[in-house]
Amino acid sequence: MNMQRLLFCLALSALGSAQAFDTAPHRVGDILDTAAAQALQARYEARPKQPWREPDEARIPSGVEGEQIRDGIDLMRNTSRRVGKLAPDATKRMGWNSLNCVNCHQTGPSGLPGSKRFALPLVNAVNDYPKFDAKSGKVISLEQRALGMFGAGAVPIKVDTPEFQAIMAYLRWLGRETKQGAAMDGTGLMPIEPIARAADPKRGKVLFQAKCQACHGADASGQRKPDFDVGGGYLFPPLAGDDTYDNAGHMFAVPLLARYIAASMPLGATYDKPQLTTAEALDIAAYVNDDSMPRRQNPNRAKLYPDAALRPQGYAIPEHYAGQPPEAYQRAKFGPFRNVNEHY
Ligand code: HEC
Ligand code: HEC
Repeated sequence: MNMQRLLFCLALSALGSAQAFDTAPHRVGDILDTAAAQALQARYEARPKQPWREPDEARIPSGVEGEQIRDGIDLMRNTSRRVGKLAPDATKRMGWNSLNCVNCHQTGPSGLPGSKRFALPLVNAVNDYPKFDAKSGKVISLEQRALGMFGAGAVPIKVDTPEFQAIMAYLRWLGRETKQGAAMDGTGLMPIEPIARAADPKRGKVLFQAKCQACHGADASGQRKPDFDVGGGYLFPPLAGDDTYDNAGHMFAVPLLARYIAASMPLGATYDKPQLTTAEALDIAAYVNDDSMPRRQNPNRAKLYPDAALRPQGYAIPEHYAGQPPEAYQRAKFGPFRNVNEHY
């Protein structure tokens, strides 16, 4: 390879845009109207799909680059200790809670964080962004999405902090041998069959007690590790209370949580060996995400999903139903849903 070509390739890989979804003519930060958003979403849906690719830790390069990738892995596993709310190093408290990324972006057979199929894997994340985000009404980048995962911690998280750069290095490595610009099988959440009735928190409570409570606790507040106060995090993460997703979080949508647990919970369940029926997953999600369950409240919630035409079902915001009979809100939150597999 001649020098000029080498430099060109280096420039391309530094830009990273060659891997990403092409949002042209829209750019990151653009606010899209309904038609433009729907057109972009349709293009996104129509992307070619590549088969799942199992990441392999043995292929992490050696040297400085490999060290940064491994640091990203460690940060995803030990988020709470390294950068969490109770991290021993107070200057690093960039997260707002004591969860680890891997509590939600679970470990798959590869042993790597974010590699479990249909449990929000991150293997193809570099190809899946930028994309239109209905929640903010804007085109967002992968960096913005990942920054958002930290929330508002005591120390503001910045793109140029070494910890954030390490996580991004890991995400880029995960996507390194994938087909650029293509979607990937097993990404996101498992599609589930719709049910004709509404999800039922009462049935969900009984199921939760039988199938979830032993680990996540009777009040769903999880089980802390003995060194929790110095950043140890949880043995079993909380699903409710003030240290997990708030009432503006994606997980707060009943269908999203149902699809997530359908492919991953109780612990040991996988998309091809699920342990819950669709109805059970929806009922449990309805119970966990019921408004009567204690949960951190997000004051900015009413501003989310600004375009009514692009609001997914299940993520119901009471303010959006002001002046309508209470059933309208109940129906939006618990269904029956027109489509349980909508995008958030
Ligand atoms: C409480 C659960 C939870 C935790 C903890 C969590 N995430 Fe996420 N994350 C989600 C959900 C839910 C989504 C997908 C939402 C959607 O549909 O866009 C997501 C999406 C992402 C994405 C975009 C990938 C995609 O498929 O859209 C990245 C990157 C990401 N998270 C990184 C992180 C990192 C890094 C951490 C730790 C600092 C973290 N997450 C912690 C729940 C979580
Ligand atoms: C045997 C223990 C066990 C059981 C039973 C179990 N879980 Fe979990 N759950 C875990 C562990 C451990 C994690 C974190 C995974 C990790 O860090 O790799 C988790 C993570 C989760 C998460 C994502 C993290 C969060 O805090 O939001 C959700 C949601 C969840 N479980 C829901 C459920 C539901 C619903 C049930 C019942 C159907 C259930 N779990 C049953 C152990 C369990």
